[in-house]
Amino acid sequence: MTPQLSTTLSTSPVTAVGLGPMGLAIAETLLTRDHPLTVWNRTPAKAEGLVSRGARLAATVADAVAASPVTVVCVNDYDTLYEILAPAADALRGRTLVNLNSGTPEEARAAARWAAERGVDYLDGAIMVPPPLVGDPGAVFLYSGPQDLFERHRATLASLGDPRHLGPDAGLAVLYNTALLEMMYATMNGYLHANALVGSAGVTAVDFAELALGWFMPTVVVNPSLAQSAPDLDAGNYPGDLGTLAMNIQALEHIVRTSKEQGVHADQPRLMLDIARRAMADGHGQENYLAVHEVFKKPSPAE
Ligand SMILES: NC(=O)c1ccc[n+]([C@@H]2O[C@H](COP(=O)([O-])OP(=O)(O)OC[C@H]3O[C@@H](n4cnc5c(N)ncnc54)[C@H](OP(=O)(O)O)[C@@H]3O)[C@@H](O)[C@H]2O)c1
Repeated sequence: MTPQLSTTLSTSPVTAVGLGPMGLAIAETLLTRDHPLTVWNRTPAKAEGLVSRGARLAATVADAVAASPVTVVCVNDYDTLYEILAPAADALRGRTLVNLNSGTPEEARAAARWAAERGVDYLDGAIMVPPPLVGDPGAVFLYSGPQDLFERHRATLASLGDPRHLGPDAGLAVLYNTALLEMMYATMNGYLHANALVGSAGVTAVDFAELALGWFMPTVVVNPSLAQSAPDLDAGNYPGDLGTLAMNIQALEHIVRTSKEQGVHADQPRLMLDIARRAMADGHGQENYLAVHEVFKKPSPAE
């Protein structure tokens, strides 16, 4: 993958559909970068802060889409994308849809076909950073779809971070996304399980952090910044305001389904999915991913 750095920014109008934690971060960033912004969300109350800063809350999705040449959608999955956009298909015709949901390559390709059948220009995308990093110049956003369409909107997409175009196959962005996320979950699980191991001898995550994070394994995901959440691990405190375990379970499901779609072994991600589902069944669904630590602290059911 060749980094494609953007130097020119645009302030063209954008419509943002979906105001969960990530959609809100996207909308707030677009406002900060001076894009005239129209928003729509199933729960309109989530737009209040944006409206007070100058965004327009559209009454319908069709109204929202008609306001801008580009609509960025960030909702939970592709089924929701179709459900939301079906009544707005006529308004979308001749405009560009940038879909930032997570999913599988086949789902992305199906969405590209859905858009083509309706005369809609389509880029599929995937976000590689958590909400607080959206807008950072180093925040990688992956895109796939027609190169010329990407180039046409590159300056707008650069408002969100560092846009990387991976190729014309619409499935590539989510394929890279799931591959990188699998590395993230496997690394994170290694860290959490290691905490459970030393924790079984009374060692705190705070004490373990110096060796585990400071020396042994500094990577993009498991790095010294995790030391800030070590007290939360010790306290069993996993606030889910920036992304829930339920959201991460969807991502793990995507990795399992993608592995099957791509014809590669699925046991490794399936095991991580099973473990995360156990944490969900134990009532941690609305907490953040680190709540998997609670599963690791107990013996596995088979032991
Ligand atoms: N949060 C992260 O750290 C992160 C990082 C990278 C990528 N992502 C991806 O970004 C996407 C959005 O994630 P998120 O964290 O913002 O939360 P999410 O829970 O995945 O999505 C929330 C959004 O989906 C909407 N939604 C859900 N079901 C709906 C339905 N049946 N009809 C209409 N709208 C519906 C919600 O509307 P309401 O507000 O009305 O509920 C809200 O706008 C996901 O695909 C996720 O994988 C998230």
